[in-house]
Amino acid sequence: MLKTLLGPKTDSLDGEKNVAMYSQDVCSPSSFRPAPKLMDGQIHIWTISQRPRTLSDYTFLLSSDEMKRATRMRLPHLFERFVADHGLLRLLLSAYLETDPRLLQFGTNKYGKPRLLIPACRLRFNMSHSGDITMIAICLDAEIGIDVEAIRPIIEWEEIAASHFSLRESASIHAEEASAQIDAFYRCWTRKEALIKAIGTGLSISLDSFSVSTSLKEPAALLHCTWDAEEVSRWSLMHLDPADNYVGALAIRGAAWTTRHFTWP
Ligand SMILES: CC(C)(COP(=O)(O)OP(=O)(O)OC[C@H]1O[C@@H](n2cnc3c(N)ncnc32)[C@H](O)[C@@H]1OP(=O)(O)O)[C@@H](O)C(=O)NCCC(=O)NCCS
Repeated sequence: MLKTLLGPKTDSLDGEKNVAMYSQDVCSPSSFRPAPKLMDGQIHIWTISQRPRTLSDYTFLLSSDEMKRATRMRLPHLFERFVADHGLLRLLLSAYLETDPRLLQFGTNKYGKPRLLIPACRLRFNMSHSGDITMIAICLDAEIGIDVEAIRPIIEWEEIAASHFSLRESASIHAEEASAQIDAFYRCWTRKEALIKAIGTGLSISLDSFSVSTSLKEPAALLHCTWDAEEVSRWSLMHLDPADNYVGALAIRGAAWTTRHFTWP
């Protein structure tokens, strides 16, 4: 599989020579293998809700940099989630690449968006976590972003919308029945977040400089963009319903993508 996920010019691949060293038992629990086949034009969306039985199931997978980031987490449950999520990400990506999860190397762009450091690798991914759920989206050759949020009551949602969302988005949320406004708020939030994660520039983009749809009566979409009107036709947005009381969104460059959804375990 790894070869098919690489462009034609590849001539070096650190992990490949180590494939034979990989033992499925070593990395248990790893039920991602064999990974489903990822086709051109397809997005695989993974919803993961299980945490490791013991952290040692995952710590040995992480790089020293990842362990350093994990130990910077101030609360024990955030440390555990970080270790689990980054271990799971390694297990999942390595299943697609048919390589040893410990050999994957990650880099980031200057805004922190992670990517695989494998020459000519076509695999793109993005991850999001909230509450007990982690979502990972995977595709070939396109910038992709995913966001998931647990829906919790937020008393000051109107102030947040007024200061972060565009006027068009705030008006659209206020147009909902009062009981539906918080869900619309979260749809707006996750769609905006997914888009900035796909673009990869984080919060360097002003959040009120673009508008997304927020109503369930219309499809998820980028509606307006102040820095370049053409962006509206360059990006696709999708609404995600990963679990009760959670909402998500996915953004990807280009159109006509199809999705396959997977849950784990
Ligand atoms: C980091 C950020 C990209 C997402 O943060 P978030 O929503 O708190 O967290 P998520 O769980 O959805 O995503 C975090 C993951 O996205 C990835 N990520 C980090 N920086 C990224 C970037 N610039 N672009 C895309 N993905 C990024 C990483 O895999 C990260 O996981 P890690 O921290 O365990 O390595 C950034 O947008 C941010 O800080 N957001 C703050 C929230 C906010 O104000 N949102 C307003 C929405 S209207």
